[in-house]
Amino acid sequence: MHYVVEPSALASGAVTIPGDKSISHRALILGGIANGLTEISGFLPGEDCLATLAALKSMGVHIDRTGDTRVSIEGGDGLRAPPGPMDMGNSGTAMRLFAGLLSGQSFSSELIGDASLSQRPMTRIIEPLTSMGAQIDSSDGKPPLLISGDRTLSGIAYQLPVASAQVKSAILLAGLFADGEVTVIEPATTRDHTERMLRTMGVDIRSGETQIVMPGGQSLTGTEVNVPADLSSAAFIILATIIATDCEVMLVGVGVNPTRTGVIDILRDMGADISLDNVRLFGEEPVADIVVRSSELHGIEVDPATVSLAIDEFPLLFIAAAMAAGKTSFTGIGELRVKESDRIATMAEGLRVLGIEVDETPDGAVVHGGVISGGSVKSHGDHRVAMSFAVAATRAGWPVRIEDTAAVDTSFPGFVQCLRSLGVGINSFSDDDIGAAP
Ligand code: S3P
Repeated sequence: MHYVVEPSALASGAVTIPGDKSISHRALILGGIANGLTEISGFLPGEDCLATLAALKSMGVHIDRTGDTRVSIEGGDGLRAPPGPMDMGNSGTAMRLFAGLLSGQSFSSELIGDASLSQRPMTRIIEPLTSMGAQIDSSDGKPPLLISGDRTLSGIAYQLPVASAQVKSAILLAGLFADGEVTVIEPATTRDHTERMLRTMGVDIRSGETQIVMPGGQSLTGTEVNVPADLSSAAFIILATIIATDCEVMLVGVGVNPTRTGVIDILRDMGADISLDNVRLFGEEPVADIVVRSSELHGIEVDPATVSLAIDEFPLLFIAAAMAAGKTSFTGIGELRVKESDRIATMAEGLRVLGIEVDETPDGAVVHGGVISGGSVKSHGDHRVAMSFAVAATRAGWPVRIEDTAAVDTSFPGFVQCLRSLGVGINSFSDDDIGAAP
């Protein structure tokens, strides 16, 4: 699949953004091991979360899609051995969270993934889980993961070497099946959806800014989960509006958990006009209606302390930097090199094709604001890279073709329709469509 995006004048309006990916994964997994009924609304029916749903089903969890964005789970019967390897597709979150959960089960299991996931580092979870007593075999620290069953897990006090909510969550999930207390110390605050949802489901878990303590061996009680719209998806529409002319867009019911709002702070520092209205709670998660207006951006030095609070938004922030007056420097973003693609390299490559100067360093980049031309860019199969270039294309000099866009469905099904509803000329082609090339 590929996109062709025309330079377009964005229209003002209101849009609905699909559900939060991180919260949808957690609602499924925690609902699957909770006693009683968990009813999820606002669920993200993206491929990543559907992989999590299929894995739980294959382990005998009673789980039904009761609507496009509704899921009902009747938990409490425990998990049973799946008939074969469980495919996590493109999802690092699914693989790492399941590795924690499965380390504490009575049966052995195997987790596999697609070509991108098969290259992503798993030592970061294997190490702490092994210290807790798990046995996990990998291919040189990468998937597939073979997780042995019937291990006795003990508590752990673990200082994370990298700021990662996925690693933190894997340890907490294993901790639910361990004897003894689990303490996780983070080098920087990361998204805390696991902790909030565990609390909602009756688990005793205490957290300070960068330390989480949870007594092991606890059970969960099913609950209702209303999933907010995903700020990481909303961010694409936010930036498209900012770089448009005289435009105002409202995004309703978007998650604004402070461990996720780094992108708003960084864009505001660059001059963006973004306001949060009607702030309220969906369970333990804060949500707001976000109103964004077209604004002039200027380059900044992005504070490395905000990196873990905006970890998925850097591809898009590279586009903001390209559209800003002056230069923007990013430091401390080395983690981007081990996401769905090497996001520093893929963004630098695509921006250069579009006429923007980028100086790359091992853990950062300097992006020189300029004029976006047009041409053909590669997404390297990375959903966020593909969507970032689609946003850039709205302000390009001529059409932009973006290769390898199928992965957009992992996190933002309906992305093309959403942009079209705001007047963007975007078309998606299957690679064997006749005459697909622009
Ligand atoms: C996620 C955590 C982040 C993020 C990913 C989703 C999660 O990864 O990049 O898209 O749901 O826990 P890390 O915590 O490994 O940085």
